[in-house]
Amino acid sequence: MRDSAPILIFDSGVGGLTILAEVRKSLPQAPVIYAADFAGLPYGTKSEAEVAARVCGLLGRMAERYQPRLICIACNTASTIALGMVREVLEIPIVGTVPAIKPAALTTSSGTIGLLGTGATVRQPYVDRLEAEFASDKRLIRHAADALVPLAEAKLRGESLRAGALTQAVAGLRDHPDARNLDTLVLACTHFPLLADELREVFGARVQLVDGAQGIARRIAHLTQGQAMERTQDDYAIATGPIASLEALSATLARYGLKQLSRF
Ligand code: DGL
Repeated sequence: MRDSAPILIFDSGVGGLTILAEVRKSLPQAPVIYAADFAGLPYGTKSEAEVAARVCGLLGRMAERYQPRLICIACNTASTIALGMVREVLEIPIVGTVPAIKPAALTTSSGTIGLLGTGATVRQPYVDRLEAEFASDKRLIRHAADALVPLAEAKLRGESLRAGALTQAVAGLRDHPDARNLDTLVLACTHFPLLADELREVFGARVQLVDGAQGIARRIAHLTQGQAMERTQDDYAIATGPIASLEALSATLARYGLKQLSRF
């Protein structure tokens, strides 16, 4: 493997940047390509078949073109639907991002956990299995909040958020009859930590927000342990769809160390 072989971090949009930020902390020397499927965004309102076909097809082509040492699917929707399929077709390590139910179950004192994800994520059998394995003695309230995805995208483009839009998107969980003792909230979509401040305002300080980014960065560091890494050029972002979507984000992407942008 080349020392410059990148870690490829993939999401439907900007959500995977929350994973990239943690990867940077544990592996500052790692060459990275950030890939956003803007042409397919959002995944959360698509069918399982559509998401699986897109993700498998795109990652196959990206793996061939960029020869990454590892791919991180930095998207809960894509991971809970297609992680197994991607692992079957690609021969490099694939790290998925799945709802952080296990750490949330360890964190909660009241036993009531909220889970905010996309519509596609909250209905996945993968989530049923995580709940059965780690939270069978807890009350897990799942809530689809697809409307948060465009809000996170807008925030990173520097646009102001429509007043009340975020509260409206999560009201079904906040006002749920079983949510009185809610003390832990799983952010089961990589876009949602980008709205952590706004979510804290709605849910209050007694609700802890939990996401999987640190655990994923640890897993990537473990899987690449001992590998030589050399950055021979600036890290870069690639995206499907019009290049303008990527260019509108250039200042944000530069803050994440992604200094070149190109269309995939
Ligand atoms: N960031 C993706 C996730 O973690 C979802 C956003 C979308 O709907 O495309 O689920």
